[in-house]
Amino acid sequence: NRFAVIMAGGGGTRFWPLSRQNKPKQLLNLSGNDIMINDTILRYEGIISVESTMIVTNQTQASLVEEILLDKVPRNNILREPVGKNTAACILYAALVLDKLYKDCVMVVLPSDHYITNEESFRAVLDKACLIAEEKDKLITIGIKPTFPSTGYGYINFNKSNLLDEAFDVLEFVEKPNFEKAKMYFESGNYVWNSGMFVWKTSIIIENFRRYLPRLYKSFMQVYEHLGTDKEWEAISEIYPSLQNISIDYGILERSDEVIIVPGDFGWNDVGSWDALGSIFSPDDEGNIVKAKHLGLRTKNSIVFGDERLIATIGVDNLIIAETSDALLICSKDNAQEVKSMVDMLKELG
Ligand code: GDD
Ligand code: MG
Repeated sequence: NRFAVIMAGGGGTRFWPLSRQNKPKQLLNLSGNDIMINDTILRYEGIISVESTMIVTNQTQASLVEEILLDKVPRNNILREPVGKNTAACILYAALVLDKLYKDCVMVVLPSDHYITNEESFRAVLDKACLIAEEKDKLITIGIKPTFPSTGYGYINFNKSNLLDEAFDVLEFVEKPNFEKAKMYFESGNYVWNSGMFVWKTSIIIENFRRYLPRLYKSFMQVYEHLGTDKEWEAISEIYPSLQNISIDYGILERSDEVIIVPGDFGWNDVGSWDALGSIFSPDDEGNIVKAKHLGLRTKNSIVFGDERLIATIGVDNLIIAETSDALLICSKDNAQEVKSMVDMLKELG
C-alpha cells in the first residue's frame, strides 16, 4: 500500500505580490502548465494512485485547496492544520492518520511547490524508492546533484561504496548550512541536496518521532484516539497552538542513523523565488522572461509578470517587475531573496 502525502501549508512568501496568505505559491501557476499542487499530483500517476493522496494544508487555505482538488482527492484526505507548525508536525499528523486507517503503509512525502522537467525519470526514481522502502526499514530521501552553493537546502554526504539496491547510507546531513560551508560542500563534489521528497513506512517514521522528537510525539499521542473520527478537528485544534515548531530536516533527518539516499536526476527546481523562473522558462533573446502585456525598449535580463495592465519599460536591466491588481513589486534580481523580508515588514505594519 502506497500513499502520497503532499505538504501544502507553506506561504511561499518570496513570490509576493503574486503569493498571498490565502493564495500561497502552491496554488499559483508559475510554470504556465497548471497550478503547482495539481502538477504535483499528476506527476506520480501510475506510481501512486491519485485516490491515495493525502493533502496537509492550513486552515486558511483549506477551502481554496478543496475547491481545486475535490474532484480528485476525497474530502477526508485533506487534513487541516489550525496553524502552521512546520514540516515535522505536518508529517507526523499525516503518518499517524495513515497508520491508523491503513495499518503500516509506505508514505511518500512531497512538497507541493517543486518543478520537475523529466517526469518520466522522476516516476522511475519514485518507484524504486517505494520498492526499497517496502523492503527496508529506512528513511529514504531523494538526493539531487547540486548546481550552486545554495544556503536554502539540506546537504547530504553519503557512502558511495556502500551500494545497497541503488541506495546509499547517509554519513552526514546538514540542513541549510551557511555560505562558507555550502561552498565547501558544493566544491567537494561529495554532497547532494536533499530534495525534500521522502519515502518511508509509517511505522518507521513514527518510531523516529518517538525517539528524536518525543515532545511532539507525546502531544499527538494525547489525541491519537480522536484521529480519523469526527472529534479530530477539535482535538487537533487543542494541541496545535503549543506544538514544537521544527522542520523534519532539523528534527529527524539530521539526527537519525536510519537515513539513506536514492539519487535522482530529473531536472529538479524548487522555484524558491522570482529569479528561479529563469530555469523554468527560456528567456528571449534579450534575456527577458515576460508573462504580461509588455512593451520594452532596451530592456534586458528582466522578469516581467503581470495581470491586466500594460507594463512598459525603458533602459532597464536585471529587474523583477511583478504586478497584481493591488500591489506592484520592482526589485533588482540580485535581491530576489529579500522579497520575504518585505512581506515580513508588511505583516508587521498589519
Ligand atoms: N502542511 C504544512 N504545514 N506544510 C508545510 C508547512 C506546515 O507547517 N511548512 C512548510 N510546508 C510545506 C511547504 O508548502 C513546502 O511544500 C514544503 O512543506 C517544504 O517546506 P519549505 O518551507 O519550502 O522548506 P524549505 O524549502 O525551506 O526546505 C526543505 O526543502 C528543501 C528542498 O526544496 C528542506 O527539506 C531542505 O532540506 C530541502 O533541501
Ligand atoms: Mg521549499
